[in-house]
Amino acid sequence: AKKIILDCDPGHDDAIAMLLAYGNPEIDLLAVTTVAGNQTLEKVTHNALAVAEMANICGIPFAAGSARPLVREIEVAPDIHGDSGLDGPELPEPSLKLENCHAVELIIKLIMSHPPKTITLVPTGALTNIALAARLEPRIVERVKEVVLMGGGYHVGNWSPVAEFNIKIDPEAAHIVFNEKWPVTMVGLDLTHQALATPDVVAKIREVGTSCSQFVVELLDFFSKTYKQAQGFDAPPVHDPCAVAYVIDPTVMTTQRVPVDIELTGTLTLGMTVADFRHPAPEDCHTQVAIKLDHDKFWLLVVGALKNIG
Ligand code: BDR
Ligand code: CA
Repeated sequence: AKKIILDCDPGHDDAIAMLLAYGNPEIDLLAVTTVAGNQTLEKVTHNALAVAEMANICGIPFAAGSARPLVREIEVAPDIHGDSGLDGPELPEPSLKLENCHAVELIIKLIMSHPPKTITLVPTGALTNIALAARLEPRIVERVKEVVLMGGGYHVGNWSPVAEFNIKIDPEAAHIVFNEKWPVTMVGLDLTHQALATPDVVAKIREVGTSCSQFVVELLDFFSKTYKQAQGFDAPPVHDPCAVAYVIDPTVMTTQRVPVDIELTGTLTLGMTVADFRHPAPEDCHTQVAIKLDHDKFWLLVVGALKNIG
């Protein structure tokens, strides 16, 4: 199985990413770490533990990380995820306890104690924790297998005309992560806007008929309302599980190697993921972007994971 650390800010789609990672047999979920983003650190951490409770996830360490971006003030997204960060379903009271250390320490400890190139980092929130980990223990950059992140978009934004939320709220952290020489796969909006939870998808999830699938249906119900209202989508794009799906089965999407850098000084373009498609990628290009999703294959993975969780 592929070992991953999921660094997230649940968040409706982060919760589904967690369930996909936990329920898919190809993934060995080593840890779940949290970062401020969709809501405050306190709220998203509570949500992560509540999702674990709901799905009976045990034996996996959870650790809370950064409560704010590196440089900028915290920005949250209640218009999309509600006041709790996970509005919609009723959340169970968590019984799982957090690790007694910062997420960044847990990430470093896991990477340094496993063989080189065996752990994939899957960030689905702001890149604050990952950037801090790379600065605190630079040897992790060589040691990590790859970074597969949800964030950015080469031709599209959602938090500004050209910037995506996870990158825009902590662009300095994103700059660090995209400029370190580890392999980075950017699963951005170009890809995730194809992962729509259409009514037939929701029906298939409902058919699983478990409390977990019911939970996901309720998440998607809330998510579809806010996405309709805030961004005019007929069906909501379920971003974060796409990054997990890529780790499970890279053939679920097409990718292209292309240099990507993060805009830090633009007045209109702050946090833009600038991808240079002008030439064939140079030999040393360590970044790639996700382009086309196999919609059916993707949702089969999600439904399959929910069945496995039971
Ligand atoms: C990203 O922003 C968050 O609101 C979602 O959880 C996802 O990670 C999409 O822009
Ligand atoms: Ca997220």
